[in-house]
Amino acid sequence: MADALQVRNLCFSWANGEDVLKSCTLEVPQGEFWMLLGTNGSGKSTLLRLLAGLLTPKSGEINVMPPVGFVFQNPDHQLVMPTVGADVAFGLVEEKLSPSQVRHRVAEALSAVNLLELQRRPIYALSGGQKQRVAIAGAIARQSEVLLLDEPTALLDPDSQLDLVAQVKRLVKSRNLTALWVTHRLDELNYCDGAFLLEKGFLVDRGDPKRLQQRLMQVGLAS
Ligand SMILES: Nc1ncnc2c1ncn2[C@@H]1O[C@H](COP(=O)(O)OP(=O)(O)O)[C@@H](O)[C@H]1O
Ligand SMILES: [Mg+2]
Repeated sequence: MADALQVRNLCFSWANGEDVLKSCTLEVPQGEFWMLLGTNGSGKSTLLRLLAGLLTPKSGEINVMPPVGFVFQNPDHQLVMPTVGADVAFGLVEEKLSPSQVRHRVAEALSAVNLLELQRRPIYALSGGQKQRVAIAGAIARQSEVLLLDEPTALLDPDSQLDLVAQVKRLVKSRNLTALWVTHRLDELNYCDGAFLLEKGFLVDRGDPKRLQQRLMQVGLAS
C-alpha cells in the first residue's frame, strides 16, 4: 500500500534557534490510522503543523496526499459559523460549488459523523465531542484524504473521548482515509494501526501500538 503521508529527515527550529525536530523520518500508509505520542514539549504539534503546511521546515522532505484536514485540540478555535451546517458549508466557499452541491456535501459529511439531525443546531449548544465531530465533518466535506488531529480528545470526558476515537477509526476504514492522531492518553492506542513516539524532537520508536503501550505504561508517560 502506498504511503499517504511521508516525511524524510525533517528538521525544524524556531526563530530563537531551538531545534524542535531532529531529522524525523516517518510514513503512514494510505487507509491506516496512526498515533503520535510524546510528552509535553516533545514537538508533536510542531510536527503536525509542518505536515499541514502551516510551518516551513528547516530541511527535509514532506509529502502529504492533499487535501489535508486539520482538527485542533480546542474546537472553539476552529468552528467559526453560528450553526453546524453553516460551519461545514463555510469550508467549501473556495470550491465554487453550486448551492445544491454544497447541500449534498454538507449532508453527506454530517451523516458520516452521525450529526445530520443537528444540522441546524447552534454551535454553542453542542457538547465538546459533538464540536470535534463538526470539525471532522468539515474535513470530510472538503474531501480530505488525510486527517491530522492534534489532541482532539484533550478537552473531552472519558466516554466522549473513546466515542470519538472509535468514530475516527470507523471513518478511516470505511472511506480509506489516512489519519495521524496526537495523544498522550494510552487507552486510545487500542484503536490505531500503529504509533510513533517522539522524545525531545527525535522519533525514538514506532510500530505496534500494543508494544508501545506496554513500554509507556512501564515508564509512565508524563504529560
Ligand atoms: N510559536 C512558538 N515559538 C517558539 N517556540 C515554540 C512555539 N511553539 C512551540 N514552541 C516550542 O517548541 C517545542 C515543541 O512544542 P510543541 O510542538 O507544541 O510540543 P507538544 O505539542 O509535543 O507539546 C517546545 O519547546 C515549545 O516551547
Ligand atoms: Mg501539542
